[in-house]
Amino acid sequence: MKNDLIHPLAFVPTMGALHAGHQSLIEIAKSKSDEVVVSIFVNPLQFENKEDLAQYPRSIESDITKAESSGATYVWAPTFEEIYPDKPEIIPAGKIGNIFEGVHRFGHFDGVMTVVKRLFDLVKPEFAVFGEKDFQQLFLIKQMVRELSIPVKIIEAKIIREDDGLAMSSRNIRLSVSDRARATIISKALTEAAMSKNPRSTLNKVLASEPSFQIDYAEIIDSDSFEIADKSTANPRAIVAGWLSGVRLIDNMAMGTKS
Ligand code: PAF
Repeated sequence: MKNDLIHPLAFVPTMGALHAGHQSLIEIAKSKSDEVVVSIFVNPLQFENKEDLAQYPRSIESDITKAESSGATYVWAPTFEEIYPDKPEIIPAGKIGNIFEGVHRFGHFDGVMTVVKRLFDLVKPEFAVFGEKDFQQLFLIKQMVRELSIPVKIIEAKIIREDDGLAMSSRNIRLSVSDRARATIISKALTEAAMSKNPRSTLNKVLASEPSFQIDYAEIIDSDSFEIADKSTANPRAIVAGWLSGVRLIDNMAMGTKS
C-alpha cells in the first residue's frame, strides 16, 4: 500500500467487476475528498461456496479505467499475502451476521468484517463509502466501526438501478437473456410493497408470480435493528434474496417510500 497518500482520504473497497453502481460510490467518495482510494480484492474469506468464488467476474483492466474515470486517484489491487500475511484474526459479525444472508451464506459476514477491518487498518481512510445494495453488510460494518471505535466515517450510498429497476450487481452479467428479464420481478415486488398498506403480503405475492425465482428470504425488517418489522417500526425496509438459474440476487427498499 502506498504511504504517501494525502489525507483526508476517501476509500471505496470493492471486489472488482466495476459497474455504474461502484462508479457512483467512487463519485460520492470524490465529493468527500480529492484523494480517493479504490481497492480491488476478491476476498476468499467471504465466499462460503468455492464455485461462486471461482465464477466471480474478474476484469482488472476495465476496472482501473472505470475507477479512474469516476475520480479514483489510486486503484489498489492487493495480493492475498498483502491482505493476510499471517493467519487472519477473524472478526465475528455477531448475532445479526447469522440471520438472513448469514443463514444462506454461513461465515460470509465474518469474512466481510475481517477483510474490511484489515483494509481500514492498511488504508487508514477518513471516509469509506458502502452501497445500500448490501444492506445487511452496511449495517454490520457500521456496527463494527462503532464497537471497535475505528476512526472512519461510513458514507451510505443509494442503490443504482438499471432502467427497468434491476439493482446493479456484478452478478447480473451471469444472467441469461430470459433470466435477466425475469429478474425485474424483484424490484417490481419491492416497489409495489413500498406503496402497499400490507408490504409483507404484497412482497411475497408479487415474488410468487415468478416461480423461477427461488426465494431465500423476503422480509420486512427494522432498518435500525434488523429485527422483523411491525406496525410501530419507524424505518421498515424490505429485503429480498433468491436465485435465478444458479445466480444469486439480492435487493432491498425502504417501505412507505420508493428509494
Ligand atoms: O461489497 C463488497 O464488494 C465486499 O463485500 C467488500 C465490502 C469489498 C469486502 O470484500
